[in-house]
Amino acid sequence: MTDTTVAPAPESLLAAPDQATQQEIVREIEEVHAAHARAVADGTYRGGQTLYDFPPYRSSILRHPTKNPKLVDPETIELTSPAFGQRDVAAIEADLTLQHAGEPLGERMVVRGRVLDGWGRPVRQQLVEIWQANSAGRYIHKRDQHPAPLDPNFTGAGRAITDDDGWYEFTTIKPGPYPWRNHRNAWRPAHIHFSLFGSAFTQRIVTQMYFPGDPLFPLDPIYQSIPDQQDRDRLVATYDHDLTEPEFKLGYRWDIVLTGQHRTWFEPEGDHR
Ligand SMILES: [Fe+2]
Repeated sequence: MTDTTVAPAPESLLAAPDQATQQEIVREIEEVHAAHARAVADGTYRGGQTLYDFPPYRSSILRHPTKNPKLVDPETIELTSPAFGQRDVAAIEADLTLQHAGEPLGERMVVRGRVLDGWGRPVRQQLVEIWQANSAGRYIHKRDQHPAPLDPNFTGAGRAITDDDGWYEFTTIKPGPYPWRNHRNAWRPAHIHFSLFGSAFTQRIVTQMYFPGDPLFPLDPIYQSIPDQQDRDRLVATYDHDLTEPEFKLGYRWDIVLTGQHRTWFEPEGDHR
């Protein structure tokens, strides 16, 4: 069973004193954004490019690709499998509040939306997976040891298959913001990680959904590594009072668009903090 004791943060988990301050990180973000705005103005920005090397997001300096990607023909099996359908995923897997004997703590919520292609057509029978921190901002993961409690009634992972109109829906607990060691006093805005499997291993894409009005947006070098405000906005869910159930849970709406000019921003591979 999970350990719920709260221990003080060991020094080794805190940012080193020589790491940048939040103010310095914000200044660096502004500089990169200003350079981006100049590239847009002089026509050298082609749009939709991922800034793989985003210095305010420190680990991106070390692990972004430095060579052109080498295209390799996938094996036939990789193009056709595995394939998931309604029968492979139980409906209960889309409710993260029902996975244990007791109820998880925190703000119960539902997130519902459609997976669409660039022409607004529904993407059907797609495996959508989510993972997230609990309401205290803690993941069940041995690398997450910051002093916030685990919740014995919350694992933080779920999955669903889109229906014939491309709809998915998850019931969960609103995740809390959590600290990380990018710089001194660094905190991630509350977010839910989303994976869309596609129809084979070669198509999987991953992104994050955020919550409206989060005060940590301007401070977060991961969110800010997306250069265009419109692209950042598309990662933020909308509060939907029609989805909210009286006395029970708050409703958020978030659509995922796979292609085209208004597509959702997806992360480079292996970058799922
Ligand atoms: Fe995260």
